[in-house]
Amino acid sequence: MVVKVAIAGVGNCASIFVQGLEFYSRGSSKEGLWHPTISGLKASDIEIVAAFDIDSRKVGLDMADSLFASPNVARRYVRVPRSGVKVTPGLSKGEPPPHLAGLRQRTSSREDVSEALRKSEADLLLNLISSGTDASSRDYALAALKSGTSFVNCTPSSLVKDKSIPQRFKRAGLVIAGDDLMSQFGGTVFHKGLLNLMVKRGVKISKSYQLDVGGGSETYNTIDEDIKIAKRKIKTSSVSSEVPYKFETVAGTTDFVDYMGNERTSYFWVEGAGFLRSPVGIDVYLRSSDGANAGNVLLDVVRAVYAASHSKKYGAVSEICGYGFKAPPKPVHFQQAYSKFETAYL
Ligand SMILES: NC(=O)c1ccc[n+]([C@@H]2O[C@H](COP(=O)([O-])OP(=O)(O)OC[C@H]3O[C@@H](n4cnc5c(N)ncnc54)[C@H](O)[C@@H]3O)[C@@H](O)[C@H]2O)c1
Repeated sequence: MVVKVAIAGVGNCASIFVQGLEFYSRGSSKEGLWHPTISGLKASDIEIVAAFDIDSRKVGLDMADSLFASPNVARRYVRVPRSGVKVTPGLSKGEPPPHLAGLRQRTSSREDVSEALRKSEADLLLNLISSGTDASSRDYALAALKSGTSFVNCTPSSLVKDKSIPQRFKRAGLVIAGDDLMSQFGGTVFHKGLLNLMVKRGVKISKSYQLDVGGGSETYNTIDEDIKIAKRKIKTSSVSSEVPYKFETVAGTTDFVDYMGNERTSYFWVEGAGFLRSPVGIDVYLRSSDGANAGNVLLDVVRAVYAASHSKKYGAVSEICGYGFKAPPKPVHFQQAYSKFETAYL
């Protein structure tokens, strides 16, 4: 059994994902691997069959080389051998991300992408393009639909939430999962965990915020005001859904520090009250590597999407969306999401 994966956006997340496939396929170590097997599938059962990007510094390269091409900053953990899969020009709806403004781009049409997907026989397309390029993300979903390829939307663009797209995937006998990947141990799930503990222990939460600081092109793009607001909306809504009452919260305000590379620091501040309204406060920070934080979840979601489609579960599969994404079709507590996923796929 081989899960054939196509990637749109050969950035830092893609670099880590492919490096992870290489590392864990060797079988010498399982260290750092959350779920060695999902529905009987291992990392070694996954093959990258196509890759798309619009950055002229990456297009035309063997994918193995593009993983480390500028402006990618994810660390090189392993040597990835060339596979012969070349990065081909992706589609663009004329809204290049801020980090590519003024730089040469190479693009193709939706039909070209659809044809390339069909030829590659990809089972699923991982949408890992820059956030803020909503029209392009939507077009990738339509290209996948046309070529009979399932689709995973890791970006914050609203595709799974827009009911008409999941319905079309369902009718076509395909799976769609999204929106906006939730990292394994990133700011959102950590924030949810803190609040959940306070709720469970009867502490009344009144206010909370989360501030992120990082480097890399994705963080650079996120300081664009519109993209920042869109990302903040998703993160705030995801975090708020963990608490069964209204409280003041803002999650996901981001700043860019070039030399941080792919590292990220997230600051959390929470104010609440216990017995006799006695004050309870939390002031903590979390340091993590952005791309690496996506690796395990991507690996799990890819295998689960493949398994779901083979057991004829089509459209937006709720246990995959709830487990792997910040904005699933229906809000779900992260612990419930995990147990549903575990029951279905582990
Ligand atoms: N932990 C995480 O890293 C994480 C968590 C949640 C969501 N995400 C989402 O995953 C996506 C990728 O994140 P990243 O850190 O790898 O970003 P990145 O900036 O490192 O990579 C994005 C890549 O997409 C390419 N691109 C942009 N527009 C394109 C288009 N139209 N067609 C093809 N390629 C295009 C860029 O050239 C770049 O290579 C983002 O949307 C981000 O919000 C990442």
